[in-house]
Amino acid sequence: MKIAELTKAKSLKGEIIPPPDKSISHRAVMFASIAYGKSIVKNFLRAEDPISTMNAFRIMGIEITEARTQKSEVRNEDSRLKTQNSELIIHGKGLYGLKEPFDVLDCGNSGTTVRLISGILSGNPFFSVLTGDDSLKQRPMARVINPLKEMGADISARSGDKYLPMAIKGKVLRAINYNMPVASAQVKSCLILAGLYADGTTIITEPQKSRDHTERMLMAMGAEIEVEGLTIKVKGQGSRSKGLQPIDITIPSDFSSAAFFIAGALIIPNSEILIRNVCINPTRTGLLDVIKNMGGDVRVENMRDVSGEHVADIYCKSAGSLKAVKISGDIMPSLIDEFPILCVLATQADGVTEIRGAGELRVKESDRIKAMTTELKKLGVELEEYPDGIAIKGKASLKGATVESYHDHRIAMSLAIAALVAEGTMTINNASCVDISFPGFFEELKRITG
Ligand code: S3P
Repeated sequence: MKIAELTKAKSLKGEIIPPPDKSISHRAVMFASIAYGKSIVKNFLRAEDPISTMNAFRIMGIEITEARTQKSEVRNEDSRLKTQNSELIIHGKGLYGLKEPFDVLDCGNSGTTVRLISGILSGNPFFSVLTGDDSLKQRPMARVINPLKEMGADISARSGDKYLPMAIKGKVLRAINYNMPVASAQVKSCLILAGLYADGTTIITEPQKSRDHTERMLMAMGAEIEVEGLTIKVKGQGSRSKGLQPIDITIPSDFSSAAFFIAGALIIPNSEILIRNVCINPTRTGLLDVIKNMGGDVRVENMRDVSGEHVADIYCKSAGSLKAVKISGDIMPSLIDEFPILCVLATQADGVTEIRGAGELRVKESDRIKAMTTELKKLGVELEEYPDGIAIKGKASLKGATVESYHDHRIAMSLAIAALVAEGTMTINNASCVDISFPGFFEELKRITG
């Protein structure tokens, strides 16, 4: 497993195009597979998570051809070429065109793959088994299994229907009216997909607004979905012959990958960077509001619409100083994946930054509250851990140490940014997990580091 060693940077300078959006890449493959006809997906993220999704649909008989895009290749230090994106042609076979998988579907590290696919499989008349890596096998699945069972799905899973592996026998589903106990785009999307197979109108209400890529893409493909505030109504299409229309989509860069460079530019002196082509869907960009309150200089420029999503370039430069902030409540889902890098920003802000209402972070690829508490302490940061968040005292002088990634891509990348403002050398163990969402991350970082 790769170890990354990093030292203090003088600046971050230049232009970056982060890898394609992970959430949108998963959805494009899934929805195109159950649409009828040929879809074209440009700028698909060639990283481990979306590849798990692509493999699952190939096993279920969907023909997906892939052309790698030359300009996206980065050479890493052991001279291997890593490709961040490609163009896919997907021959969708309709809502009921998937074939029974002859083997277990291995979703790897990807919560989005397993939770969204379970909604599709629940409505398909065959038997399937889903599993994943050690991290995914410890993540809660009852949040999708319970409502899917209410819809009539036949599902069993390990440990009293709580954890992977899970076995699904597809059934004719009934529409339900479901109030989600936690804001989760994966759960919401699972139920929207199951709703497409149901016999009436499925109504889903979330407690807070989570990312809405599913609603946008399915509506563009002809699904009958209505969104009113926090409530989503999905008309079951099972009985209709037409189903979803294919798509021709260009996927923008991932804001969550851009976030590491935004934070880096703010805290490393003499930095000035332009991050191009980033998806700025408002359900994803809570970090920008927080940075504004911290007094950071980030400008969103050249806004445009691409394939139903808002896209822009993000210009950022070093902040003279940052102020501590208090964060909780409705903003959390819009910065859920940015928690680790926000903790790093907080170490460089004057005062105590408090992040609460973030209990969901305990069940991500790792327990991200525990991971950041443990690793930032090693760097000399004073902090307090709460069941649902953290309080971090800044501005701290970080000192390099040997730190753990917990095999969690976002922890590894956040600690890499912390290394660039720390004294001495930072050694990050198990750093190759960045390939989950950002192959070539360390090489890109090196390219723009002065
Ligand atoms: C995702 C939803 C979020 C997010 C994850 C991707 C998605 O998870 O943390 O990285 O693509 O729908 P939850 O639904 O568990 O909040």
